[in-house]
Amino acid sequence: VAWQPRLNGFLFSDASSALSQQEFDNINAILTGIEGLIARRQALTSEGRLDATAQPSGNWDPTKKQVYEIDAQTTSFMTSFALLMQRDYDILKKLRLYSQAFSGYQLATLAPAVHRPWIREKLPADYDRFLRMLVGNPDESVHKFVNTANKLPEAYRFSFPAKFGEIGWIVDDMVLSKDTWMYLERICLLHECGILPALIEKSKTTTVRIMEIGSGFGGLAYFLKRIIPNSRIVLIDLPESLAFCLSYLATVFPGISHSLVTTADYPVPEGPGFTYVSNYDAPSLQVPNLDLAINTLSMAEMEDEQIISYCKLIQRSLAPGAQFFEQNFGFSTNATKNLVAAISQVLTNPRLIQSAIIPTLEKGTPRLWSA
Ligand SMILES: C[S@@+](CC[C@H](N)C(=O)[O-])C[C@H]1O[C@@H](n2cnc3c(N)ncnc32)[C@H](O)[C@@H]1O
Repeated sequence: VAWQPRLNGFLFSDASSALSQQEFDNINAILTGIEGLIARRQALTSEGRLDATAQPSGNWDPTKKQVYEIDAQTTSFMTSFALLMQRDYDILKKLRLYSQAFSGYQLATLAPAVHRPWIREKLPADYDRFLRMLVGNPDESVHKFVNTANKLPEAYRFSFPAKFGEIGWIVDDMVLSKDTWMYLERICLLHECGILPALIEKSKTTTVRIMEIGSGFGGLAYFLKRIIPNSRIVLIDLPESLAFCLSYLATVFPGISHSLVTTADYPVPEGPGFTYVSNYDAPSLQVPNLDLAINTLSMAEMEDEQIISYCKLIQRSLAPGAQFFEQNFGFSTNATKNLVAAISQVLTNPRLIQSAIIPTLEKGTPRLWSA
């Protein structure tokens, strides 16, 4: 029987932004850990022990003016990071509204981030009043989510939680927006190529090991952990981005292990949980027997040397027969390149994933690679 979803209005940010004192304190401790990682990066760099591949570059280069605003100011991802590091309760409790850098969608204004000024300051306390003027009937992403979810196993039918100011159209008990749709597209592709069903099956007897490079605010990791609870998910990103995803995931998955790696040569444990690794510690990471490696919407924003370094990590870490799932656009404005050629320097046998469920993919060309 086809699922008959019911629209129950719109969830505004005040209704999804409860953050307890304990949660706030935990996030503060996380942000202190992140400051430690940035200080270590500085120290290792000045000792000459880190090269250019360890530094944020391309769209993530803090020294580059990335977005030109109408008032002649410039903004970037670091603008969002600086806001987060204010450790302001009102900002942290609505963290999702400050996470536009990762999906390219400005959830706060329900618009592509490129159509709006970057969010440069704390949103007004009565922000939802303004939002009520913006919200109309569900946009097309809600229809796409519903149509796609209808063709997928019921176990994939959920959204991000009503937490951190998540906003969106309420469909049954889900909160849907363009962001939710974007992550379901990836889940659908991972399902259709057979990887997700195989990992779900494997997780019944052993902890599945997944590594994601460039994990953003943790959106895909959230979906994967919900679908495969018996998983160890290793997230590699710049410390500035780990600040977002560790704060998010540690709060929405409170009962499980979240380890922030603070040393080189770290051996990733066997059991379930999350491991967070700074990009500059990735080359020496010990993460054998990986069942899946992932990169979405970020390798195209990296330098060739960074891509090759990650591909070598993937190559030495994938279990026999395991694959690398990658979905990217071919180039980005700040790091134009032939991504396939760069990955092909290390990994082999790229195969396009065709979707029989989604007529037009939105978030780049999906491929599987072998070690
Ligand atoms: C456009 S976002 C995409 C995030 C996420 N994959 C998604 O699709 O929502 C690009 C991500 O790549 C990360 N990134 C940039 N340079 C990186 C590097 N050298 N190593 C690891 N991650 C990097 C950014 O911090 C950011 O999280």
